[in-house]
Amino acid sequence: MARGDERRADRKHAVPAHGAGLVFVVLAELHGLPLHCKLRAMLNPIGLTHGHYECRALDETLPIFTDLLAMQVLERGKPDKPHNNHYGVRVARPAEVDAAHEYLEANKARYGLKRVSRPSAQHFARSIYFSEPGGNTLEIEYYDPQAAAEGRSIAAPHWQRELAESDFPGRGYVPQALTHGTLECHDKDASAAFYRDVLGLQIAGGGRISVYIKHPATPWYLVVLPMPKRKKPLRPVNRFTLTLASADDVEKAHRELGSRATELQPIERGESCTSFLFADLDHNWWEVRA
Ligand SMILES: [Fe+2]
Repeated sequence: MARGDERRADRKHAVPAHGAGLVFVVLAELHGLPLHCKLRAMLNPIGLTHGHYECRALDETLPIFTDLLAMQVLERGKPDKPHNNHYGVRVARPAEVDAAHEYLEANKARYGLKRVSRPSAQHFARSIYFSEPGGNTLEIEYYDPQAAAEGRSIAAPHWQRELAESDFPGRGYVPQALTHGTLECHDKDASAAFYRDVLGLQIAGGGRISVYIKHPATPWYLVVLPMPKRKKPLRPVNRFTLTLASADDVEKAHRELGSRATELQPIERGESCTSFLFADLDHNWWEVRA
């Protein structure tokens, strides 16, 4: 491109749409980046093809692009998360699981639910699963008190005061507590040892198939399930948080976890929070903060 053309292109800097690509090249040249660099770059890109942007609420942001900037939504993705990364809430009576199934089925379109499973019984539990539009699986469960009587501590009520129907009226079911999250692993015993000996969590049950881990101070627990051919590793936004007593403890944990984590991100030091993220033996993400 001749110098005169460059200047004309630069004056058109603010022209939108396809002209912008041309201006980008010209500006780079004017800022002294040679087109024929003798040193080989590390990468050899075939294009600068995508921009990525984050927002607080996608449904609020999308109309800005479509209604004000003439853009089109080409694809609206959702995270591809396995069933075994669900969260579960518990109701106090078995009939509430059936009522929940009925209510969710009746309101499937309203909430964009993709799948609502029929109530099914497993061991002492009775539950339904459903998929919400954001790609997450959720569970509503009931646990027979007999399970707690036989020593399953996780089956004991997770609440001290039972919520009344009037606290969550009109659905026929009342979730009393968020009881569990779920994680996949390759080797149950190795993961249990990591969670106990490295993360300081408690083994709270499990059995032949899974192991349950929790913190002694709170009733909720994580079900860790072996999954030999794991296809969907999670991204760091899907994580559990361990809160430590002080920022110094977070710094120390960062130093000590270094060689044991499969990935370790740098410490973020804010005014009110010091934290970092790491991935465990199975690339499940955790946050450590104070
Ligand atoms: Fe579950």
